Amino acid sequence: MLSADNRRYPQLLDQLPSQPKTWLITGAAGFIGSNLLEHLLKLNQHVIALDNFATGHQSNLDEVRSLVSTEQWTRLQSIEGDIRNPEDCARACEGVDYVLHQAALGSVPRSLNDPITTNAANITGFLNMLVAARDAGVKSFTYAASSSTYGDHPALPKVEEKIGKPLSPYAVTKHVNELYAEVFARSYGFKAIGLRYFNVFGKRQDPNGAYAAVIPKWTAAMVRGEDVFINGDGETSRDFCFIENAVQANLLAATAEDSARNEVYNVAVGDRTTLNDLFAALKSALAENGVVYDKAPVYRDFRPGDVRHSQADIGKASSRLGYNPEFRIVEGIAKAMPWYLKH
Ligand SMILES: NC(=O)c1ccc[n+]([C@@H]2O[C@H](COP(=O)([O-])OP(=O)(O)OC[C@H]3O[C@@H](n4cnc5c(N)ncnc54)[C@H](O)[C@@H]3O)[C@@H](O)[C@H]2O)c1
Repeated sequence: MLSADNRRYPQLLDQLPSQPKTWLITGAAGFIGSNLLEHLLKLNQHVIALDNFATGHQSNLDEVRSLVSTEQWTRLQSIEGDIRNPEDCARACEGVDYVLHQAALGSVPRSLNDPITTNAANITGFLNMLVAARDAGVKSFTYAASSSTYGDHPALPKVEEKIGKPLSPYAVTKHVNELYAEVFARSYGFKAIGLRYFNVFGKRQDPNGAYAAVIPKWTAAMVRGEDVFINGDGETSRDFCFIENAVQANLLAATAEDSARNEVYNVAVGDRTTLNDLFAALKSALAENGVVYDKAPVYRDFRPGDVRHSQADIGKASSRLGYNPEFRIVEGIAKAMPWYLKH
């Protein structure tokens, strides 16, 4: 039996199709953005999708197209544009009810290699989007914040109020997003919601390239029979969050009441999985799909900028937004595995 708060999501899923709204998803060709796009189109919503394809792919949009009806697809307006360009942001915000701002350059190592480009997308781009959304008078602005904002704070589980010093340029950018959001509430009464994602994973997360996330990267290596590298001793831990949980958090945040705004929320499950455990879980999920990986992991140096342990307290998102994550890591991996194997 769900508590009163936890009924919000099922109720929202019931209501939305009969009361279609216009949503702007920035970063819609990326991993999280394309999953939001798929859900919203399936709920008969109107969607504007903005992306410059820096790390996102047309193939993600093509896949969404194949999963929705022709009529649902006609409710999408795609804009190839850049959030570093204020005009693109203004154009994308016209007539929008809810903004889900996902566009950014992810990855701690990318930000260490090229802090200027990360800064431009993640801070200048964020500010451009805030200004455009404020000026367009949107109903709500929900943005992708990050667990990297906890930085060197040692406390576990992570509660929203206790953050440490950032450990990478990427973490600085995500913290600055939160500072700007707060100042926009104070200065202009424009109240955004930041969702601090903790290691989100699932279909359409890019397995390729130097900056790929751990789950798609390791799965791809295992499928190809290549070495899997663990940075450090393997006891580094994370609160892995299946994409469906992150989608739920976005829809709840976008439609949250005013008193829940101008806040940040952890978006995760509340579990802690070590990299060694993750290795074993992926190996066994692959075995269930007929892929046997018999190599041991290769341990190498810790990676600079990485947080050692991460685990969320999701109490605030649960009580204030009605967030109730449906999938734990093993269930999420089982659901995502067929996609990883196909791609
Ligand atoms: N995946 C995670 O575990 C995780 C964790 C914490 C925070 N986040 C944040 O969530 C958001 C989405 O991440 P993701 O994993 O889907 O990454 P992704 O790289 O798959 O998606 C990001 C999208 O933004 C687009 N983009 C980048 N710069 C742009 C620009 N200047 N103009 C327009 N579009 C631009 C990219 O082309 C891409 O489609 C990001 O803000 C990221 O920092 C993700």
